[in-house]
Parts: sequence; C-alpha cells; structure tokens
Amino acid sequence: MKSLLKTLTETFAPSGYEDAVRQIIQKEVKPYADEIRVDAMGSLIVHKKPTVKAKNSRRIMLAAHMDEIGVIVSHVDKNGFVRFTSNGGVFGRYTLGARVRFMNGATGVIGFDKLESVNDAPPMSKMYIDMGAKSRKDCPVKVGDFGAFDRDYIEMGGRLVAKSMDDRSGVVVLIEALKSIKSTPNDLYFVFTTQEEVGVRGAGTAAYGIDPEIGIAIDVTGTGDTPASLKMAMELGKGPCVKVRDPGMLSDPRVVEWMASTAEKAKIPYQREVLLVGSTDARAIQVSRAGVMAGALSIPCRYIHSASEMVDYEDLVNSVKLLTALLSKPVSF
Ligand code: CO
Ligand code: ZN
Repeated sequence: MKSLLKTLTETFAPSGYEDAVRQIIQKEVKPYADEIRVDAMGSLIVHKKPTVKAKNSRRIMLAAHMDEIGVIVSHVDKNGFVRFTSNGGVFGRYTLGARVRFMNGATGVIGFDKLESVNDAPPMSKMYIDMGAKSRKDCPVKVGDFGAFDRDYIEMGGRLVAKSMDDRSGVVVLIEALKSIKSTPNDLYFVFTTQEEVGVRGAGTAAYGIDPEIGIAIDVTGTGDTPASLKMAMELGKGPCVKVRDPGMLSDPRVVEWMASTAEKAKIPYQREVLLVGSTDARAIQVSRAGVMAGALSIPCRYIHSASEMVDYEDLVNSVKLLTALLSKPVSF
C-alpha cells in the first residue's frame, strides 16, 4: 500500500487533468472489476457486482477524488514571468517558495512582488511563477496551462507525508478495499472522481449516472491535534473518522449508525467527525437526483492543502478494514 501511495502522490493530476492518476488506478483495479468505464467528466467507474444473494442488497457508490489543487496560468509578461489563478483551494501562506510542475513537465518557483509589510503573506495577485525564462517567447508555459505543487513523498516513522494526500490516501484506501472484498451481497460502484477541489463536480454527475441508494465519500479530514489548532475531536492515529457533519453536509444518521456499529463489532478503532471547515464528494452525492443516503469515511490529515499533507499509516490500514467490513455484509436499513 505504501509504494502505491508514493506513486499516486508523486503523480500530477490537477483538477480537470486527472488522466495520469486515472491510468495508474485503472491498472490496479482491472483484475478485481466486473466492469470499468470512464464517464464524460472523466471519473473512473469500477463496478463490482454482488457475489452472493441477500435480501438487503444495496446499490452503493464509494467515491475518492483523483484531482489535486494547483494553478492555472492567467498571464505571461514580456520578461517571461507567469501570473496565475488558483485551481481549487490554494492558500497563499503555503505557496511562497513552492515549486510548481506543469502538465508539460516544466517546473517553476513561486516569487512575489515587493511587500508592503514583510511579515504578511502576499495575496495571490501579487505572486508570480518564475519559469527560468528571459522573455515571453522563452517561457515554457502559456495562458491556460495547468500545474500542481511539486514535492516528494516521505515516511516519518508511521507518519506519511506528501502533496495530494488529499485525496490520494482516499484513493489508495478505496483500491485496497476493492482488492480485499472476498464476497458481497451488494452492488458496488467504486468511483474515482474528477474536479472535487473545484466544487465536487465529478461526483455529482457520476452519482446521477449510477443512481445509488447509499453513497460514501472517502476523503481526508482536518484534525485538532496540533498546537493551537481549531478545537476539533479528530486526531492522527486514532482510526478512520465517521463523518457526522461538515459545512457542506449533514451525514444521514442511518449511515453514521451503520458505520459506527460496524466498526465497534469488528473492533476497528474509529472517531466521530464534526468538521468545521471543508466538505467532500459526499455532499454532491447526497443531493443528486431525488436524494441519496450519504456519509463519509474520513482519513485524519494535518496541513491539508499544503505540499506536505500528513497522514498516519495505521489510519489507512483501519480505513481499509472498516470499508471492507461495511461492504461485505448486507446493509440492515
Ligand atoms: Co481538498
Ligand atoms: Zn479531498
């Protein structure tokens, strides 16, 4: 699982350009799928049909997003300096000194205009990307080119650090769960979605096409376990989180109860999640068509949307266990 996570996090897939990650996933899931398709928005839909008959067979959609935050070139000046706009939730405080890799392989570093006050992070409009070019003609990128932040994957004991743990850690959990399900009474759709970071777009259209009865997003969640952090209950290393609420959705109480009781029965550590900032694909699934019973399994993650997002390996292992337990048995509601 770690080497697959390294490969996935070191691959570039800014929102709207998810192909490279999709290809890796496609190869991994092929032996375990009954059917694979890519929809018009680019989401990869992996269908696993029921292997045993049961009364409460449910059509369940699981979603982990392939895309990551990044930048889009908006202007190149005559000296070859690039102005950019954000593609997803890019925070100014994380971008100074960062390296950006574009889809054509060109790399740049982020610089900034002279500051009014040296202690304040400048707004994005006062930042630029230096591509090492001397003129516009010389610049290896043009208006409309997409890039993402460049950073290696590292292991710090049980803590794993990389760019795009949001949401490649969810992607890896979903792939491993698919691999570990021996039999299921449920009709399962493992969906690797596009354009989550720009407003949960791919999950909404995929849910419309699949028309699931239950939807679960697998994504990261913020924690309250660092110095002077937001007061939140989630901690690294204490197990997967069962989402109760985030600013974008209220999880279906039946799904929350199903997830929590399954974890308790299987003796898998878990946490209850009330997230104060952010949302996930589950929001789009829940309100698609006539509505879907939805919830989320969240992976605790520090420094979300920085180039050094941190997760705990045991949380990934326990997330795979919980998903496998949930999907292998008939649903009781
Ligand atoms: Co995100
Ligand atoms: Zn995410």
